[in-house]
Amino acid sequence: MIRAEDFPAGFVWGASTASYQIEGAHDVDGRGPSIWDAFSAEPGRVKNGDTGNIACDHYHRYREDVALMRTANFSAYRFSVSWSRVLPEGRGAANAAGLDFYDRLTDELLAQGIEPWLCLYHWDLPLALHEAGLGWTSREIVPLFADYAGLLAQLLGDRVARWATFNEPNMFTMLGHGAGVHAPGLRGRETWLDAVHHVNLAHGAAVRRLRAELPAGSLIGSVPNLQPAVPATDSGADREAAARMDAVMNRATADPVFLGKYDPLTREWMGDRIRPGDEEAIYAPLDWLGLNHYSPQYASAHPNSWGFRMADPPEGAETTLMGWHVKPEAFRDVLIETSERYRLPVYVTENGMADDGEPDAAGEVNDAGRIHYLERYLGAVLDARAGGADVRGYLVWSMLDNFEWAMGYGPRFGIVHVDYQTLRRTPKASYHWLAALAGGSAVSGP
Ligand code: FCB
Repeated sequence: MIRAEDFPAGFVWGASTASYQIEGAHDVDGRGPSIWDAFSAEPGRVKNGDTGNIACDHYHRYREDVALMRTANFSAYRFSVSWSRVLPEGRGAANAAGLDFYDRLTDELLAQGIEPWLCLYHWDLPLALHEAGLGWTSREIVPLFADYAGLLAQLLGDRVARWATFNEPNMFTMLGHGAGVHAPGLRGRETWLDAVHHVNLAHGAAVRRLRAELPAGSLIGSVPNLQPAVPATDSGADREAAARMDAVMNRATADPVFLGKYDPLTREWMGDRIRPGDEEAIYAPLDWLGLNHYSPQYASAHPNSWGFRMADPPEGAETTLMGWHVKPEAFRDVLIETSERYRLPVYVTENGMADDGEPDAAGEVNDAGRIHYLERYLGAVLDARAGGADVRGYLVWSMLDNFEWAMGYGPRFGIVHVDYQTLRRTPKASYHWLAALAGGSAVSGP
């Protein structure tokens, strides 16, 4: 049983979303296409041919969505900006109407007493950059990302106090530039490593630009997804495989950003991609760390160029609709380890589970499975705090059911159900449960 009073005063409650997953309005008010528009339009890339063209139509319904955040007693909301909505070509002339959307969203959040937490990049690169050869595999993207950060800092720096550069740099570099199952669909070891290093450099450049543009006291961070790499069996080969998975999946994008240097294995893989001065350019002191976590990941030895491959969770393990292992102890451990290793205040910026629940005859969505999940994962947050982790908030993934990337609209992660035909929002049982919890604790701290 989780109670509001188990959490300290000032513990932040909220929800996260991402632009492409909820906004829709893909061709409205001068928005340029992103790599996800192109990718989802390609047959066979996304389940059922789903696209983010309409999604939750949050672009037009943001007021209703913010009102739902307020009645959930949330004090923070993490959203991402669609780069191609504000800079249709990714660089050059800004789109005033696109900027205006984020301006209005910010004002609406503040008017409802909710802190806007702005994430610069949640995977929707402007297509124009990709087509010009200026995507993440090109080092030339680094100053362009910093310019984009500067533009938003100038617009919103007076009202947005908390900023993040990247959402899950490890995941989008791997899925989109290594495995080829996310936009822009690149496959291979070299493009993956290129993307990792350039994303890291872009992070450093953006942090410096944000510091230069934002008022003193603004809080700048980044949002890694850290999932413990567990050997599939006890064999020495699988243990070695897990160490390799940990290096490339967890450390490669987090260590340089939070500690200022690559771990030895990643450095070896990177080779001469790392030029003199690069690690200094990547590292810039941060104020906070947003941790996304869903489950542990399993590794087994494999004679591919990485020396490992992903393995299934153990026989009989409890899994969600995504096939992800439900294991709150792994969450507790990763919170403690992250807090100790990177020495920053930690906010959980994503955690949650997918189901396929629809409203019942009474129009209610009784997602008891999600409540059970949240209860156990919030228990893990409390255990981590008791174990010394400096965890200061919890933002559930996600506010709304939304476009789950290559899986389309099948998996529903929201605490609010979205009917994709009518776009009607229905708060689920988990929404009411979280609202009660959030309502019992004091307002957000720094
Ligand atoms: C994370 C992503 C988020 C969503 C959840 C389920 O990896 O950051 O956009 O897809 O997983």
